[in-house]
Amino acid sequence: MEASSHDVLLVGGGGAGLRAAIAAAEVNLKLSIAVVSKVYPMRSHTVSAEGGAAGVAKSDDSLDEHCYDTISGGDWLCDQDAVEAFVKEAPQELLQLERWGCPWSREPDGHIAVRAFGGMKKRRTWFAADKTGFHMLHTLFQTTLKYPPITRYDEWFVTKLLVDDGRVQGVVAIELMSGKIRAITAKAVILCTGGCGRVFPFTTNANIKNGDGMALAYRAGAPLKDMEFVQYHPTGLPFTGILITEAARAEGGYMLNKDGYRYLQDYNLGTPQPKPVLRSMELGPRDRLSQAFVKEDQKGRTIQTPYGPIVHLDLRHLGEKLINAKLPFVRELCQKYQNIDPVRELIPVRPVVHYMMGGVSTDIDGATPLAGLYAAGEVACVSINGANRLGSNSLPECLVFGARAGRAAAAYAATQQVPDGKVFAQANDERRRLETQFLFRTGGHERIATIREEMQKTVETSAGIYREHASLAKATHQLRELQRRFGDISLDDHSRTFNTELESALELGFMLDVAESIVQCALHRTESRGAHQRTDYPARDDNKFLAHSIVSRNFDGSSRVEYLPVKITRWAPGERVYGETSKEQSKSTPIRQAV
Ligand code: FUM
Repeated sequence: MEASSHDVLLVGGGGAGLRAAIAAAEVNLKLSIAVVSKVYPMRSHTVSAEGGAAGVAKSDDSLDEHCYDTISGGDWLCDQDAVEAFVKEAPQELLQLERWGCPWSREPDGHIAVRAFGGMKKRRTWFAADKTGFHMLHTLFQTTLKYPPITRYDEWFVTKLLVDDGRVQGVVAIELMSGKIRAITAKAVILCTGGCGRVFPFTTNANIKNGDGMALAYRAGAPLKDMEFVQYHPTGLPFTGILITEAARAEGGYMLNKDGYRYLQDYNLGTPQPKPVLRSMELGPRDRLSQAFVKEDQKGRTIQTPYGPIVHLDLRHLGEKLINAKLPFVRELCQKYQNIDPVRELIPVRPVVHYMMGGVSTDIDGATPLAGLYAAGEVACVSINGANRLGSNSLPECLVFGARAGRAAAAYAATQQVPDGKVFAQANDERRRLETQFLFRTGGHERIATIREEMQKTVETSAGIYREHASLAKATHQLRELQRRFGDISLDDHSRTFNTELESALELGFMLDVAESIVQCALHRTESRGAHQRTDYPARDDNKFLAHSIVSRNFDGSSRVEYLPVKITRWAPGERVYGETSKEQSKSTPIRQAV
């Protein structure tokens, strides 16, 4: 088998991956660093991020306030040491990006402009119009080109982590163009493959977000953390799931039910004001807004469409000039994908799966419990997002923890020997598995698309915005049955060149594992917190569940769920209050508490 070897290997070429590669190169320019990505890096999902990146920038704001918003927004499930590090380093990272060329939007006097975002009590979201992800990714990509130690494997699909002697020593990957299956060994591997929104039927996530990195880690023996916490973004276009950025509400957009009524006032989110009020109404946190939609639907106050119930986002009062200046992409998306013009028409929207708070369990430097394996970005759970991420915290999370993981992996790699021959035997076994179970197998009775659709329906029905025991227990059996049926698929395409059917099959295998971890964690957490709402356990239970779910794979392929205490540094758990009264809450003095 052909093989190549590097010191640090990144899986994934989005925001976290590229930031990690740069950080590793800056530790030591003599290191050999590789970025393996199943798509060309500029097609990574970071490119589609719209609204912005949070980081304290103005004198009326403070690091403590950003911490508090993040921790209360996460319903006290965030590890507070991680949040403190994140909040402190986020502005430095955003400034670093500025120096590398990111065209942040400006105020008229030239200062960085910041906008409001949901659940934040200060304006602290940096943005580049509403194409922030594109500009950030472009900046990072062009910066990696300056570093000779960074080698790229574009359009290579990683199928397995190579683990020997208790540590990760590389990957097996398929070069999609040729179909060649190769070992790429490394002293340290960093997973930066993003989330797994495609486990659900309706998502803002690109087709590439299949939980690859989560499943790779899980199969290799690294646990996943807090997988039950799935974020629905309140405003997706109904047919495509395309995101209409929260920035549209930050600029003053209203959410209206079928009667044209600003219904969020009925859900403890404040009273309607003509201008946006921070942490209030349309600028409440995403979990509460998505839950309010479900309640509104139950009251019969949504509009039924062939693509499910919808409400409206109204931007008409903002005027064409503002929309063109601040929300040009929103207008373009509405025109191209919904055939409406938000300057004159209401935008139909409904909640859509957007982000995984959970992921590969890591420490504050991206290290997983499995030696040699690191993770950063949405694939990872550090955890700074707890039970509900605040919008615009994920882009800086990619930067802060991508950089931390890159530095830590580079330091670790310097202490390791080049992987020995034993991993090549494993890589050959993996090649045989791919060929016999997938590429050359004939006579199977199952179709990829059928199993994928059934999986997506099962996960949505059981682990959607509201959950309860019976449907989660049923989903456990359904997913096991789908796993069994997955063993009986066969492909129509047996060629090697750009075999996208093979890629889809492998992605489905990853998604089935991730789906099981979501359902198991949701089944075991018998409380309601943030984005995890159990109708049969409606209250938060800090006595039992101020703890992270840790899900690991057993030898027989089944999973087990255990719990790890949340790290509390300065903010004792409290009530989450939004609306006008949130001003009182936010003034509360941080409490020093023993960890
Ligand atoms: O609405 C948005 O622009 C999404 C931002 C985010 O998820 O951070």
